[in-house]
Amino acid sequence: MKIMEIEGGRELSGTIRISGAKNATVALIPAAILTDEEATICNVPEITDTDALCDILKLLKVNVNRASESLVIDPRAMENTEIAEIFSKKLRASYYFMGALLGKFKKAVMYFPGGCSIGARPIDLHLKGFEALGAKITVEKNKYIVEADELKGANIYLDIASVGATINIMLAAVKAKGTTIIDNAAKEPEIVNVATFLNNMGAKIVGAGTSTIKIEGVEHLNKCFHEVIPDRIEAGTYIIIGALCGKYFKVDNMIPEHVDSLLSKLEEMGVKLEIGTDYVMILERNNNLKATNIKTAVYPGFPTDLQQPFTVLLTQAHGKSKVNETIWENRFMHVPYLKELGADIVVKNQTATIIGPTELKGSSVVATDLRAGAAMVATGLKASGTTTITNVEHILRGYEQIIEKLTNVGAKITLKEI
Ligand code: EPZ
Repeated sequence: MKIMEIEGGRELSGTIRISGAKNATVALIPAAILTDEEATICNVPEITDTDALCDILKLLKVNVNRASESLVIDPRAMENTEIAEIFSKKLRASYYFMGALLGKFKKAVMYFPGGCSIGARPIDLHLKGFEALGAKITVEKNKYIVEADELKGANIYLDIASVGATINIMLAAVKAKGTTIIDNAAKEPEIVNVATFLNNMGAKIVGAGTSTIKIEGVEHLNKCFHEVIPDRIEAGTYIIIGALCGKYFKVDNMIPEHVDSLLSKLEEMGVKLEIGTDYVMILERNNNLKATNIKTAVYPGFPTDLQQPFTVLLTQAHGKSKVNETIWENRFMHVPYLKELGADIVVKNQTATIIGPTELKGSSVVATDLRAGAAMVATGLKASGTTTITNVEHILRGYEQIIEKLTNVGAKITLKEI
């Protein structure tokens, strides 16, 4: 088991370079099997979710070559085998193989996906989309069998603007006969990144990034070269850490526009920022932060994935703040640990009320999921004394070289095997 130990209370200063986006990468890797030739993806983060998806590629006899930040994926000799539970359970995004295999072979057999326990996480909208394209779905115990004689373009309205359903339907529709229209599609930057990748291969997708996506099916997809966008959630996490502990703290190689909602909230709280074209710098520490309210929403609203680290910052603001979580029903698991360290927080009806500022004192905490883990790292860096985080495997699923990046800006943080 791995644990993280943080000696908190230090001022952080310097530059953190943002890696490729996890939530784009985890869709791009399965999408790559759609090419009839070879796909090269660069700026791929070295995180355990990438490894888990490459293991699935290897199971499917796809040739994968990793050279530094690039992945070369050649599916020419691939076999459409069942994706066993030990592979599917490792992460949520294994479900993108359903759309990609269906699109390529008109058949996918896969056990239920895994992922963070942040809510019920149904995939009914993905399945409805596949059905609309002509697929038949059978659920055998905890295995999905999705197959079609022919995939035909369809008009699909998503009841919820789901990121996963939007991408999965795009993957299944890209080689279908005729035109597919996805209405009330999700608009997250990761969706645009995946659509661009598919278009680079020869797909005909327009409207990604808006709520209507139109896909004209094509027969072949070619060789392509593609770059993963910077991770807006990793960037947002470090910006929040900078607001908590930083001075001349630069988060570099990012797209500030992708975290506009976060930056507006920080400015409203009184955080002094310099916003460049590809960086955000926290200029000085403000011990007089103002309280504020946030409500999580689909892009470009305040991202649920930053809600947990942002709660930590709110414990240091003067007055009463509220955090209303609207996407996931179980995303306050970091709160009991924050309270143990000294925060004053009450959670009721999907809303956390935080009274600040409160002093935080290091203790032993658990990373219950990926972003709760990021919140624990932020807490440990701010708290006085030593904070020990267990279950850090969750954190390593999504933050590339977190120990090295934070050490470079002056944090005392170590990863230990016990
Ligand atoms: C993606 O999850 C991200 N994961 C999540 O990031 C992120 O929190 C989420 O989008 C929202 O931004 C990946 O990209 C791999 P959704 P996804 O489908 O696609 C409901 C992180 O920390 N819903 O947009 O699974 C669902 O229950 C993670 O990096 C249905 O009801 O999210 C939720 O309430 C965690 N039926 C809402 O929609 C469906 O078929 C949004 O889910 C699908 C979703």
